[in-house]
Amino acid sequence: MVRGVCATVTLLLCVLGGQAVDLLRVTTTSGNPPSIPQVHCWCASYPNVTLCSWPEPSQSPPIRYVATYSERHRRTSTNQCHLIQPGSSFSALTSASSSQPFWHCYLPNLKLLTDYIINVTAVYSDASSSHLASFMLEDIVKPDPPVQVRVSPHNNRNLLVEWSPPPTWTNMDIFPLKYQILYKWENRGTPKSVNLGPFESTKAELKGLTPGRPYFFQVCAKELLDLGECSDWSSPVNITIS
Ligand SMILES: *[C@@H]1O[C@H](CO)[C@@H](O)[C@H](O)[C@H]1NC(C)=O
Ligand SMILES: *[C@@H]1O[C@H](CO)[C@@H](O)[C@H](O)[C@H]1NC(C)=O
Ligand SMILES: *[C@@H]1O[C@H](CO)[C@@H](O)[C@H](O)[C@H]1NC(C)=O
Repeated sequence: MVRGVCATVTLLLCVLGGQAVDLLRVTTTSGNPPSIPQVHCWCASYPNVTLCSWPEPSQSPPIRYVATYSERHRRTSTNQCHLIQPGSSFSALTSASSSQPFWHCYLPNLKLLTDYIINVTAVYSDASSSHLASFMLEDIVKPDPPVQVRVSPHNNRNLLVEWSPPPTWTNMDIFPLKYQILYKWENRGTPKSVNLGPFESTKAELKGLTPGRPYFFQVCAKELLDLGECSDWSSPVNITIS
């Protein structure tokens, strides 16, 4: 005897710039379509540390996730992405500013200049939903922010801004970083900002700042040959020149 199974399948296809593909797929046997994992992938240390993350829904989370990836043109050979639970010490490091719990998964040993597809599937008791995202390592490079940003008075009313590279960027010799400085202040209640760089060293001397005014400094890091994007800005450091 064949039992009837009623399933709804929803497909959503987005093609961005003819390159990246985002495919969202929901299969459900009940009326309520489950939420689809919002997957975001980035390479925090080129070429060997690539992570994907997605938020855990606060209401009715799935029973489990299955995360697999493959080369886009060799879909038959799939690999497991190593899942890292929300709240582990690792995810606390990478999503410090966010209060929402995030899942992460780690993709080891990706090849250079190769299209990949990751499939993150949320499994529910009566449904499943998948997010398929394609990427090439070189397009998703995004270092972690620089650390230990220091600002100090220097040479008669100048300022010295110094920082250290993100410790998670492990191949500094082969893939150096460059940096940008952003500083902000208020002029009679109006916010102002200046973006400086790129700098290839880890310090810069700034001139012509106004004494008595508080300035807030932040630094971001980008791969020297412009792969991917600049890191998030480091947390602001303030200084007032006397
Ligand atoms: C990435 O490569 C660097 C240098 O080759 C190495 O020190 C580091 O341990 C590697 N990281 C991982 C996660 O494999
Ligand atoms: C995505 O992964 C799920 C779970 O492994 C699998 O059932 C589904 O067929 C995969 N989707 C595609 C399009 O490969
Ligand atoms: C500047 O930083 C100090 C701590 O380093 C803090 O006490 C002070 O409130 C900050 N100033 C402003 C304007 O945020």
